[in-house]
Amino acid sequence: MCGIVCYVGQRDAVPILIEGLARLEYRGYDSAGVTIQNGAGVVTRKLRGRVQGLRDLLAEQPVAGTSGIAHTRWATHGAPTTVNAHPHHDCTDTIAVVHNGIIENADVLKAELERRGHRFRTETDTETIAHLIEEAKAPTLEQRVAIALGQVEGTYGLAVISSGEPGKIVVARKGSPVLLGVGDGEYFVASDAAAVLEHTRQVVYLDDGDIAVLSPDGYFIIDGESRAQARTVTSLDWNLEAIELGGYAHFMLKEIHEQPETVRATLRGRLLFDTGSARLQGLNLTAGDVAAIRRIVILGCGTSWHAGLVGRHVLESLARIPVDVEYASEYRYRDPLVEPGTLVVAISQSGETADTLEAMRRARAAGCRIVGLVNVVGSTIAREADGGIYLHAGPEIGVASTKAFTSQIVALVLLGLFLGRQRPDGLTEAEGRALVEELTRLPQAVARALELEPQLQDLARRYAGHHHALYLGRGVSFPVALEGALKLKEISYVHAEGYPAAEMKHGPIALIDAEMPVVFVAPKDHVYSKVLSNMQEVRARGGRIIAITTEGAGELGTLVDHQLSVPATASLLSPVVTVVPLQLLAYHIAVLRECDVDRPRNLAKSVTVE
Ligand code: F6R
Repeated sequence: MCGIVCYVGQRDAVPILIEGLARLEYRGYDSAGVTIQNGAGVVTRKLRGRVQGLRDLLAEQPVAGTSGIAHTRWATHGAPTTVNAHPHHDCTDTIAVVHNGIIENADVLKAELERRGHRFRTETDTETIAHLIEEAKAPTLEQRVAIALGQVEGTYGLAVISSGEPGKIVVARKGSPVLLGVGDGEYFVASDAAAVLEHTRQVVYLDDGDIAVLSPDGYFIIDGESRAQARTVTSLDWNLEAIELGGYAHFMLKEIHEQPETVRATLRGRLLFDTGSARLQGLNLTAGDVAAIRRIVILGCGTSWHAGLVGRHVLESLARIPVDVEYASEYRYRDPLVEPGTLVVAISQSGETADTLEAMRRARAAGCRIVGLVNVVGSTIAREADGGIYLHAGPEIGVASTKAFTSQIVALVLLGLFLGRQRPDGLTEAEGRALVEELTRLPQAVARALELEPQLQDLARRYAGHHHALYLGRGVSFPVALEGALKLKEISYVHAEGYPAAEMKHGPIALIDAEMPVVFVAPKDHVYSKVLSNMQEVRARGGRIIAITTEGAGELGTLVDHQLSVPATASLLSPVVTVVPLQLLAYHIAVLRECDVDRPRNLAKSVTVE
């Protein structure tokens, strides 16, 4: 959601903060602001719009200082206006606050504060925090922050500076990620590592309830009662190229093209060729734990939920364990019946999605063991899970998830191998070895699917003007259809729906006419002939058909308008390959429609609010 970056040290803070904000802009981009602390007190520049606008504003109205806090916003409370942009001040303009999250009792607090004479300038929930700190009576800023936060209900990752305590930044976390970057005589704060990577690879992830105090002399962490907290310093292994465009027009395109390598990275060191299994030490599951599993519940949101739907096929087929796949946002507010022996698999690229985190906590409270399939190392879901599989796909900056999806499926297949080879009804050694061999060929298959890009550009030119699209698939390809439709709608603003191909007859077929492009995800698997019948049904009604099939499946001739063939692979792995043309199609349509591909409207990467 919103992005925070802060700096305290010896250098001029503004360029560091602006650069950091630009790297975090994918988290939210309706407004941006910075507060610098210097001899003049706390000086804020902010505006509605992008970080580039803030950069221009600071060129016109420069401000200098060696400590400051900055923010890029994704509006929750209050419209995306300059006034509502962070940082927010108290009445005396001596305290400035940036905040991610939602203060749930902001209205009540605001009414009380106004009754006591405070003047509010914005419609945001965050401003209440500045006034609460202003009121708090205590010798240090961190104690005043603790008093203020004691009155607040909701979630926050926040940073505060005060002209009363120059060279100090106070940071607090509850439910919204914040990390510290540890440099040499300089310290950083960020809501994700991308903002600090060019300065330091040493980071400290704060836990809920932590309050960190930073100055050029060092940092310390306390809880709300001023008790010291020890947190480990983690070394990041992401390199700077991973967060640069590297010659690509957009991060999304770069990340689509990275997939042969990211699939390889997810597999690296994990395939056991002799036993046809997977080495997954991070899972922390003993043979006894595996034997005791009676059901698997997969939790996720958006694209991660789609990966979970593929995971159901994978795990049921390889391990013969019943699997439910749940939207985390629904699960957390249900009263789910949890059987003993339920293993929960929480899937999340960011590891910070609020709904997935809360659903997982709910499952844990009901006695489930939790496995996290997470990309961002050290993220909250990764830390709170009992064990997990890191995707190792590198930072995903494009708001539309691409490489994380394919790595999630690969990680689910690894989990299937690991469980399946230990379960009595699971796959045999020969089957396991065959799948392991197939996995080694998967990066190459993805690379060959990427070679279809020129044809997909042609298709994009042909269909960019259409307003609707249907995506259909069966079995393991149904979640791919959902994912293809999601990619198109989120970055091109074209209405698209994914359906199980056979369900079309039960309603959506009424939509089909010559204006309706229908994308079939149709790899040659056990339902291929059924899907061909579904194509006939569309054809008979004049629909335009784009078919993604596998090489060797044969020409579909006049049954379809366009046929694109991806390399064949094992049926359970096919989503990793068939999704690639759909990602490219959505990307090129979005470019032709002049949409802001990496920053689609209304969206933010890492949804840390409900
Ligand atoms: C779509 C997309 C979102 C995310 C969803 C979950 O392209 O990126 O639907 O998949 O917000 O995010 P994570 O995986 O970080 O939990």
